[in-house]
Amino acid sequence: MRSRTFAAVLSAASVARAVPADASSANGATAAAAAAAAPLDWAAAYDKADTALAGLALNDKVNIVTGVGWNKGPCVGNTPAISSISYPQLCLQDGPLGVRYASNVNAFTPGIQAASTWDRALIRERGQFMAEEARGTGVHVLLGPVSGPLGKIPHGGRNWEGFGADPYLQGVAMAETIEAMQAVGVQANAKHYILNEQELNRETMSSTVDDRAMHELYLWPFADAVHANVVSVMCSYNKINGTWACENPEIMNTLLKEELGFKGYVMTDWNAQHSTSPAANAGLDMTMPGSDYDGNNVLWGSLLNQAVSSGQVDEDRIDDMVRRILAAHYVLEQDTGYPNINLAANVQGTHKSNIRAVARDGIVLLKNDNNTLPLQKPAKLALVGSAAVANPSGINACTDQGCNNGALGMGWGSGTATYPYFVAPDAAIKARAQTDGTQVSMSASDSTGSVGSAVNGADAAIVFITSDSGEGYITVEDNAGDRNNLDPWHNGNQLVQAVAATHENVIVVVHSVGPVILEKILAEPNVKAIVWAGLPSQENGNALVDILYGDTNPSGKLPYTIAKAEADYGTSVSRGNDNFPESLFVDYRHFDQEDIEPRYEFGYGLSYTNFTYSDIFVDGQPFSGPATGDVIPGGRADLWETVMTITVTIANSGDVQGAEVAQLYVGFPESAAAPPKQLRGFEKIALDAGASDNVAFDLKRRDLSVWDTVQQNWVVPTGTFTFNVGSSSRDIRQTGEITVA
Ligand code: NOJ
Repeated sequence: MRSRTFAAVLSAASVARAVPADASSANGATAAAAAAAAPLDWAAAYDKADTALAGLALNDKVNIVTGVGWNKGPCVGNTPAISSISYPQLCLQDGPLGVRYASNVNAFTPGIQAASTWDRALIRERGQFMAEEARGTGVHVLLGPVSGPLGKIPHGGRNWEGFGADPYLQGVAMAETIEAMQAVGVQANAKHYILNEQELNRETMSSTVDDRAMHELYLWPFADAVHANVVSVMCSYNKINGTWACENPEIMNTLLKEELGFKGYVMTDWNAQHSTSPAANAGLDMTMPGSDYDGNNVLWGSLLNQAVSSGQVDEDRIDDMVRRILAAHYVLEQDTGYPNINLAANVQGTHKSNIRAVARDGIVLLKNDNNTLPLQKPAKLALVGSAAVANPSGINACTDQGCNNGALGMGWGSGTATYPYFVAPDAAIKARAQTDGTQVSMSASDSTGSVGSAVNGADAAIVFITSDSGEGYITVEDNAGDRNNLDPWHNGNQLVQAVAATHENVIVVVHSVGPVILEKILAEPNVKAIVWAGLPSQENGNALVDILYGDTNPSGKLPYTIAKAEADYGTSVSRGNDNFPESLFVDYRHFDQEDIEPRYEFGYGLSYTNFTYSDIFVDGQPFSGPATGDVIPGGRADLWETVMTITVTIANSGDVQGAEVAQLYVGFPESAAAPPKQLRGFEKIALDAGASDNVAFDLKRRDLSVWDTVQQNWVVPTGTFTFNVGSSSRDIRQTGEITVA
């Protein structure tokens, strides 16, 4: 009998893998960004910053850390140029899906759509292209990516800006995006740090979470961001445990700078600062925009000067702020040949290829009875719903996309960009129909009274429904940022019911910021297919046609759970402070723990083909049943070291080419008191019909550890680990076990 120890596992020879070494996109998109970013030379950057710092007067230093004030520069955040060290007027601009307030840029797909592809190469390429547009417009700091909110509350208004309701998925997407952005020389900004999970009362409420959930959920993706060398972090509006995030030493100094070893600088969210000295002494490095929105209340600037003179803030602390900010600038070589600020520059290039690929590969096929899809040159198609056509008032008619009129491409708020064009579903479908000789009838209305004639005689009726959310400074149809409920907007349920009452082949297309309760729609037997099209931005219609007609096989997987009922999530928008009572049990972790059946689980998504899983191995050898072994030594220094590699073989056992996202969920030993399963690996693999190949999941030490609140360290728990590999969080196809003594 083979008795495999963890020590043996750790030292086993490397596994033969058939996984492509580069990160080319599973669906064959060009992924020029795949090359790994060069490591950053922080030491040299700090040396250079020290030299510059030596020649600066206190006043210059204070200028480097204090924004010029709201609406007083070309960008949403600006600091003054310091000519003596050739330091530019720094431009900080939103946001997470491209350059905001620019007139000739692309509006990239929101983070949630990128996550929904589970495709590292596409995520990375998206980061690269966004950064190329930022650089081309002279933006030094592009204010993204977002991993707070994590999305513990499905109604949370800004969940769509980030990468889904799992820290591992978020962390991978953060790291890929940051590395790709910074390889172009643009400063990335990991935001919002931390525990900012809702819009209601975000600027007054306090969030308190237990130490373990802080580490294993909320801090996790920020740890990936720091590990990926992110040069800036934005502290959030809310309080944490009663102290404002931007003057909280526990958050900024202890966790971020000391524990994670963050070498860059912390900036405030806009007007999230509340004090002069406490903020400085707690680890804040830059205030944005430098005043309140009226321009009256300035907390640093001359007040910071005075705080130094009066001894309330050490000049060393100011030097540390400046050193961090300058080092971020130097480490990305922004001091040589960086373009001047010009938000009107046309920088679109051919980047729309990535937008279409992410929009398309992020589409999740939820239901497809009787192979309703892909469409086979139907004689007549009916399109129903206002979301089938572009916003009749204009694609950029609403400030910061603060409306839900016509087809939906993104949520609303500061994390938006101006659409250069918008391909609505009707335009793309009509173009395709023309080549196929298909007749298209339309009812671009949400009124149930007007569907009858439009759907008559159609081979299929496609009904478009939506759900929208955004940032709390804009209220749309009574939703003040967060969603009031998880129902489709604009009577979507009734619209589908009305169509299904008169037509027997109904396809529902959902464009949404997050989960929608679909029970009423699923109760209609005539609803044969549901296409979860997410937030596809400007390539909305093109991406949909790619999937509806089978030009591309759907390969997206849900980055959150779709429940049967709102209450099943166990979390909701807090009216007062939020003590995070659900702790670790967020999204699928909660459904698994409480044994609640979701409608469509985290990680779920259908394909036009089938995939078969076999041959789970650990470090190239079969699991030999429970085995005992040594505890993997814990400790922070080597958390990113690969301690084992699990492989499985995946075969495309259907008739058409397709891509599968194989997911690894670790079940921790009972002693860990952890959620039943936690995502700790995923790989997307494209396979021709009949082909098979291996995928490999490298497990890092952190992936097998839990945060020990007594030891204040990551520790590998003892007992039996279960390694579940499957097609979703509930469709597990292969398992293996290892016991740690
Ligand atoms: C507030 C938002 O929370 C933040 O994400 C954004 O970057 C700033 N406003 C600047 O617009």
